[in-house]
Amino acid sequence: MSEEKYIQAGKIAAQARDLGASLVKDGTKVLDIANAIENKIKSLGGKIAFPVNISINDLAAHYTPIKNDLLTIQHDDYVKIDVGAHVDGWIADTAITIKPSGKDDLIICSEKMLENAIKIIKPGVTISEIGQVIQETAEQHGFNPINNLTGHSLDQYNLHAGISIPNIKNTSKLELQEGQVIAIEPFCTAGDGHVKDSGQAKIFMWIADKPSRLVEGRKIIELAKTEYKRLPFTIRWIPGISQLKAQIAVKQLVQAKALHEFLPLKEISGQPVAQAEHTVIVKNKPIITTKI
Ligand code: CO
Repeated sequence: MSEEKYIQAGKIAAQARDLGASLVKDGTKVLDIANAIENKIKSLGGKIAFPVNISINDLAAHYTPIKNDLLTIQHDDYVKIDVGAHVDGWIADTAITIKPSGKDDLIICSEKMLENAIKIIKPGVTISEIGQVIQETAEQHGFNPINNLTGHSLDQYNLHAGISIPNIKNTSKLELQEGQVIAIEPFCTAGDGHVKDSGQAKIFMWIADKPSRLVEGRKIIELAKTEYKRLPFTIRWIPGISQLKAQIAVKQLVQAKALHEFLPLKEISGQPVAQAEHTVIVKNKPIITTKI
């Protein structure tokens, strides 16, 4: 693993995240924020590890704007910005929640969940200990963690390298090891604390080569493998094809099991969700790559 490149990617993702956070204002277009964040990653010499997720209120994750998306930020929205950048495939993954009307208990709770989890990270700590700290912190603040969203280990060109870190008490005795790289990403809500698939997917990822009868489909598969390096991508990025044709092509590719689709995830009781996330290199003195 390349520690240096993980750290470089972390600095890039953190700056892009903070730029995005500064743009979250009443009336701003989500599309403008997404473009600013993704351009920032590129201008700092990084590559985009996944389309920036800008998920609002009870959408916990996996929303990214389409071309010409008119969605705008409202005063009391909980705006979660989840950013991924990489350098030669070494990934940084980080998220923050911003509310134009000001930080409140729900957002503070998500930040404390993350802070308390990171405090116990070191070689030998178990997945169950991390989940317990996250859940207890949520409960101390009077909220629930989202019980079916998890943190995850990272590897080169791999956003989910095998280890899941639930945000709730669990029985996993698996121990973190020196040098592992993990993204800790707690989510909290005043609702039931569970998300389900909702709406149309905007984010996709290559899983297998399958024949496509559409010329657009063949082009998308090629891009998914070469340009997007088998990492998640969005139809907003696909050049030279209308949004409608791209949407038809990706739908066919999902049905053919050539692409995986990430559906927007909605909190089941409709309550707003806050999220905080950092990428951490596990050591006795952990390195938080996405902290500035
Ligand atoms: Co993540």
